Amino acid sequence: MSHSTKMLTAEDAGYDTAARLLQDGGLVAFPTETVYGLGGDARNDRAVARIFEAKGRPRFNPLIVHVPDVETARRYVAWPDAANRLASAFWPGPLTLVLPLKPDTGLSPLVTADLPTLAIRVPAHPVARQLLKRFDGPVAAPSANPSGRISPTEAAHVAAGLSGRIEAILDGGPCEVGVESTILGLTDGPTLLRPGGLPREVLEQALRQPLATHGQGDPLTAPGQMTSHYAPGAPMRLSVTDPAPGERLLGFGPIECTLNLSYAGDLTEAAANLFHHLHALDAQGDSPIAVSPIPQTGLGLAINDRLNRAAAPRD
Ligand code: TXA
Ligand code: MG
Repeated sequence: MSHSTKMLTAEDAGYDTAARLLQDGGLVAFPTETVYGLGGDARNDRAVARIFEAKGRPRFNPLIVHVPDVETARRYVAWPDAANRLASAFWPGPLTLVLPLKPDTGLSPLVTADLPTLAIRVPAHPVARQLLKRFDGPVAAPSANPSGRISPTEAAHVAAGLSGRIEAILDGGPCEVGVESTILGLTDGPTLLRPGGLPREVLEQALRQPLATHGQGDPLTAPGQMTSHYAPGAPMRLSVTDPAPGERLLGFGPIECTLNLSYAGDLTEAAANLFHHLHALDAQGDSPIAVSPIPQTGLGLAINDRLNRAAAPRD
């Protein structure tokens, strides 16, 4: 299937077109504070099926549903006390909660890949919020990149990966956070399923308890935690202080390098630059990439998680 992909701007006419396309079962990429999402009506089987198709994403890997507020979220999922506490502290924002799916929600079963749980979040980006308000329905949205590739933090990244496969891209400029939402499972004890834009320490403080961590190879809970992901074309080596001749250095801190995630050594700035710099290195060529060590604290968990996947052996 081929479409010409419309570029929409974040103003009245753009929102109207985007909302109408979603209502008609079309696919619209839109900015969130984390990364751009590829949105479709979460109640429409055909729209959801087309999301998987456009990304080349395996059907067993479920999607996050985006809603405008807590009240709407509660229509879809069971709502324990912990969800209440976390949503009042961090929604809208870069936190996805995985909760038991309620019966008869009208959501397409493709969204959850038939799991008994649903991943749901309230994004903070004003353009995402405006679109959700105009569309007035649940929007299923994975990151708007071809499966296994680098996530998009600008409209141009989306266009480069998905042009011709989706109806429109709503341009809201670069994403502020730059890494995907933190995913927290709340079906048993609180479990960190994916480190992301909300630091683990902040969640632990709010919950006043340590989070369990999802282990590599644990079944079912996070089918999307496949190892090779976010991958640029070039091979990557991590935690490098002494790059080899011919290697391009993606640096962190006050050093000489090809591109610097944060000269000041600031992890928030590094997260915001991560996918932008990986896209830029990818566009530059195929010579190997070395990456400076990144501290494993705060947003460093999410950055290292994405870098580990980008550097993982590919099949
Ligand atoms: O920041 C974000 O979360 C972005 C923006 C667009 O909202 N979205 C995003 O979606 O990163 P995606 O599809 O790239 O990643 C969603 C992750 C996948 O790893 C998937 O396996 C996991 O969420 N997931 C979805 N539903 C789940 C569920 N019921 N239980 C466990 N993991 C789930
Ligand atoms: Mg993704």
